[in-house]
Amino acid sequence: MDIKFLNENMMGPNAWLIAEELTADLSLKKGMRVLDLGCGRGLTSVFLAEKFGVQVFAVDLWTSATENYERFKQAGVSELIVPLQFDALQLPFAKGFFDAVVSVDSYHYFGNNDTYFEKVLKPILKKDAIVAIAFPGMKYEVHGNIPEEMKPLWEADALEMWHSIDWWKPKFETHLTEFKISEMGCFDRAWNDWLSCDNPYAVEDRLMIKTDNGRFMNIIKITGNIF
Ligand SMILES: C[S@@+](CC[C@H](N)C(=O)[O-])C[C@H]1O[C@@H](n2cnc3c(N)ncnc32)[C@H](O)[C@@H]1O
Repeated sequence: MDIKFLNENMMGPNAWLIAEELTADLSLKKGMRVLDLGCGRGLTSVFLAEKFGVQVFAVDLWTSATENYERFKQAGVSELIVPLQFDALQLPFAKGFFDAVVSVDSYHYFGNNDTYFEKVLKPILKKDAIVAIAFPGMKYEVHGNIPEEMKPLWEADALEMWHSIDWWKPKFETHLTEFKISEMGCFDRAWNDWLSCDNPYAVEDRLMIKTDNGRFMNIIKITGNIF
C-alpha cells in the first residue's frame, strides 16, 4: 500500500485495509469482471486490480471518471480498471454481467432498504457471483434511544444509514449461499488511519470516535454467493 496515495485518497476509514479483510477468504481470480460499487477515489479498485488481477468496473456517484482514470494511471493499473460515474440506483450494465461485486463504505447510502439488492444489484450479477460488502454499522439499533453524549456528534442523516447486523441480515440472507455477516476486526486500525490524516472531515470525526470509545459503532461485512 502506497501511504501517500492512501492519505490523498481516503474518504473515510481506510478502505484498503477494509478491502484486504473483506476479500481475504474469497476466490477472486484473474480475468473476473468485478463491480467496485461506490468506489470513491478508487482505492479499493486499485487494490482489487493489483492483488487479484481482476477487471474492475469502478463506479461512483460523487467522483468523476476522469479524476479516477488519472489516479488509476498514476497507480499503474489503468489497463485493468474502467472508471465510471453513475448512480448505483441506475446501473447501466447487462443482466448477469459481473462475476463479483465488492463495495466498501458506500452501500449504506443506497442499499439501506428491502429492495435494492434484489431489484437492482442481483440482476446484474451472474449465478454464483461473489458478493462482498462492507459498511459502517452499529453494534445494536440505537435509533430512538441515542446516548446523550453522542447526540451532538452523530449527524441525523448518517444515523439513518447506520444499522446493526440483525437489521441488515434479512436484506441478504435469502439471496446468498455461503452467507456470512459479521463485525470486522480492522475497525480500530481503519479508523485510526483515517483520523490521523489531515483531511478536514477526518479531523471532525476524531471526537466522535473518541467519545464512542468502541461502544456503539462498528464496521459490518457481508459475503456470499448469488443463488
Ligand atoms: C465515504 S465515501 C467511500 C468511498 C470509497 N468506497 C472508500 O471507501 O474510500 C462514500 C461513497 O459512496 C458513493 N455513493 C453514495 N451514494 C451513491 C450512489 N447513489 N451511487 C453511487 N455511489 C454512491 C459516493 O460517491 C462516495 O464516493
